[in-house]
Amino acid sequence: MLNAGLIGLGGMGRGHLENLVRLEKEGLVHLKAVCDIDPSKFANVENNFNIKGIGESKFDFDSFAHYTSVDDLIANEKLDLVVIAIPTYLHADNAIKCLDAGINVMSEKPMSLTSADCDRMIEAAKKNGKYLMIGQVLRFWGEYTVLKNLVEDSKICDPAKKAYPDIDLGKPLAGYFFRGGAQPTGSWQNWYWHKEKSGGCIQDQHIHDVDMINWLFGMPKAVCSRGRNLIKGDDYDAGYDAVSTQYIYDDDIVINSQDDWTMNGRGFWMEYRVSFERGSVIMGANNGGAVVMTHDGKDVTPAFDSDNAYYKEVKYLIGLIESCGENTINPPTASRDTIKIVEAEVKSCDLKGQIVEVK
Ligand SMILES: NC(=O)c1ccc[n+]([C@@H]2O[C@H](COP(=O)([O-])OP(=O)(O)OC[C@H]3O[C@@H](n4cnc5c(N)ncnc54)[C@H](O)[C@@H]3O)[C@@H](O)[C@H]2O)c1
Repeated sequence: MLNAGLIGLGGMGRGHLENLVRLEKEGLVHLKAVCDIDPSKFANVENNFNIKGIGESKFDFDSFAHYTSVDDLIANEKLDLVVIAIPTYLHADNAIKCLDAGINVMSEKPMSLTSADCDRMIEAAKKNGKYLMIGQVLRFWGEYTVLKNLVEDSKICDPAKKAYPDIDLGKPLAGYFFRGGAQPTGSWQNWYWHKEKSGGCIQDQHIHDVDMINWLFGMPKAVCSRGRNLIKGDDYDAGYDAVSTQYIYDDDIVINSQDDWTMNGRGFWMEYRVSFERGSVIMGANNGGAVVMTHDGKDVTPAFDSDNAYYKEVKYLIGLIESCGENTINPPTASRDTIKIVEAEVKSCDLKGQIVEVK
């Protein structure tokens, strides 16, 4: 059984804590220690995360050791795996520190704020022969795995595989992705509000859809983005708060994506619509499942594994570590490539929508 640690007990960290406790009950890890720079996080306080149902459980914090520094955690515990859920600008250095200490790492998205940092992280994983995986969680999210199957296979692939033998959507032709919600509040030192710490809505939130576009359709050759700073405030400098991007591919597939984190009071939601030669697949507002609609009038709601995707991603990594398997779903090079796309998007926004090559 792997010995695990968790670094960061904020909104996302509490979600990971819930899943690590579940994985411990299932006999897959032993959660030995948690680490947060702010010791008040070791109390059993309520957690109000922006994703409903995540991180709401209470815990017996006496059942694992507590550390207020990553160095002390590494020096005092023999760990096989750490999950890192601290502010984005701290990801690269802390992930590298853990990899150099011989620990496998699952670090939250975005991988880091620059592709150069991502390369450093990948190099550290290689040098130390350890796994590094980034929390691009949509690769484990039921509605998006349905879409991935359709893009790759054009047929509905669900647990009852043969249920829809007459549906074959053909090739994908166009896709639209949206993610939005309220301006992030309540974070540690308001780090989300500063572009050099969070990257604003493009690098922080929109990154999920960019990673999906990368996963589903591959790397675009260029992007054309418009972004706007909509929120003003003395302690607020997050750069772009809303963005709209066209992704340019050689085969002329039409792909675009929007993000907006200024929709205060409206919760958080995500949507997609992807059209194929003989039908479309749509995930509506408020994460309401995926529906396949064929041109000849059939509507089908494919079944999928709806278990918590944050749980599934960590379980997947544990499986890789135990089996020395190859990470085919979410390798760190893919997360780095996703960062390269958002780097091009920010540049295109800065240039008021000029087409920017993805390099
Ligand atoms: N995958 C997702 O869907 C998803 C959702 C939300 C956030 N995230 C990501 O998770 C990460 C954390 O976000 P959050 O919303 O939990 O932030 P947060 O501000 O709620 O929590 C950050 C925590 O890190 C702690 N911390 C800060 N510096 C530290 C250090 N040097 N060592 C140890 N602990 C330290 C803080 O005390 C705080 O408890 C970010 O990278 C964010 O982008 C991912």
